Formats: sequence, structure tokens, C-alpha cells
Amino acid sequence: MVILELVNVSKIYGSDERKVQALTNVSLKIERGEMIAIMGTSGSGKSTLLNILGTIDGVSSGEYFLEEKRIKNYSEKEKAELRNKKIGFVMQDFGLISHYNVEKNVQLPLEYIAIKQSEKKKRSDDVLKRVGLENKKKSYPCQLSGGQRQRVAISRALINNADILLCDEPTGALDSKTTKEIMELFVELNQLGKTIIIVTHDKMVAEYCSKVVRIEDGHIVQ
Ligand SMILES: Nc1ncnc2c1ncn2[C@@H]1O[C@H](COP(=O)(O)OP(=O)(O)O)[C@@H](O)[C@H]1O
Ligand SMILES: [Mg+2]
Repeated sequence: MVILELVNVSKIYGSDERKVQALTNVSLKIERGEMIAIMGTSGSGKSTLLNILGTIDGVSSGEYFLEEKRIKNYSEKEKAELRNKKIGFVMQDFGLISHYNVEKNVQLPLEYIAIKQSEKKKRSDDVLKRVGLENKKKSYPCQLSGGQRQRVAISRALINNADILLCDEPTGALDSKTTKEIMELFVELNQLGKTIIIVTHDKMVAEYCSKVVRIEDGHIVQ
């Protein structure tokens, strides 16, 4: 079953002489449960593509369907709700709040949801356990290694039980040993049924994925 679909999507930033065409006629179908790498040089449009898939950014033309829902028809509020339920984001720089401990960082997406403190705790315990950090709940980001910080970010992405993980160069700041560990974690999550899309420069990262999409100058080339 197709979970994400782009049909003839173009994206233009700015206007007139300042115009930048970041994506041109991109069509892409991603099946539920796939693990996909998106590769391309810097400036080729990878983050733009990911932001559109994540409903953070809109298209200039074409259509985007998330679980067959036409995203164009959604208001900002509806998109935020959908995003919160369906999508977890993982970024290169981890995106953790330095003055929050691990547990509080992981619980961040729950701030917008009316659930009890005890349920929040249960959920963060579960996702921290899944990434092997149950003993770091009370640590602060500065007390963790890069790989551990990324694990915290991944558990935060999982806390709403999102089906889809969108990852923008998630191993870009990690050494190769840690990259392998993080990729093995993504493979486990994929085996649990998550659909995972990883933007990367790194061939080793792409080798963990079942499919590679190449993007050049805003076009999908392969
Ligand atoms: N918010 C923006 N405003 C204007 N131009 C942008 C913006 N975001 C990206 N671009 C441009 O769009 C192109 C694709 O960028 P991006 O998707 O970030 O590429 P990548 O992630 O592959 O490095 C680049 O030329 C970039 O400068
Ligand atoms: Mg980018």
C-alpha cells in the first residue's frame, strides 16, 4: 500500500530574479514499510523534498498525498495534527533542548496532547528502552555522546507512535562506528513496521536501505 505519494511536484522559492527552483516535476511513491535512502549533492533539493513529505512545507505545483489524503486541502492546524500523529522527524544536529533532561526532551511532542503525567512517563520509558537509553533518563544532552543524543532524538520521534520517520542526514555528525549502530536501530524499527526515509550523503547509510532515490538539481534521476 502506498503511504506517501508525490505527483509532478515542483517547488520554487522566492519570486522574480530571486527565484530558486528547488524541485522540478518530482513523482515518487513510497510503500508502507519501506526503508528508503534519498541521495544527492548539497543543494540538490533533498531537504526540500523531506519537508514537503513532512507537511512542513507546501508544493508550488503538483500534488502530495499522505495516506491518500490530499494535503493541499488541509489547513495549517490540520497539518500540524496529522504530522504530530503520523510523522517523526530526526535531524542531523539532533535538535535537543540543552536545559531539558533526556526524559523531558523525549516527552516534548506530548505537550500538545491531553494525557496524564503517568502516561507520559510510561511512554517515554518505553521509547527510551527501545533505543537502549533507559538508564539515561535524568541526564542532560551535554552529558551524552553524539550517538546517544541521536538515540534520544529517535525516541522523541517515536513517542507518538508515528508510522513514518523522516530523517535528514541523521548520521551526518556521527563517526562510522556510531553510524552503524544508529543504522542498525533504524533497521530494527523498520522491521517493526515503520516506514523510514533517510536523506544522506553516505553510501554506507544507503546500503542499509532497500531502495535508493537519487536527486540531482531538483530532479529524480534514478
Ligand atoms: N527557504 C528557502 N528559500 C530560498 N531558497 C531555498 C530555501 N530552502 C532551500 N532553498 C534552495 O533550494 C535548493 C535546494 O535546497 P535543499 O533542499 O536544502 O537542498 P539539500 O538538502 O539537497 O542540500 C538550494 O538551491 C537552496 O539554496
Ligand atoms: Mg539538506
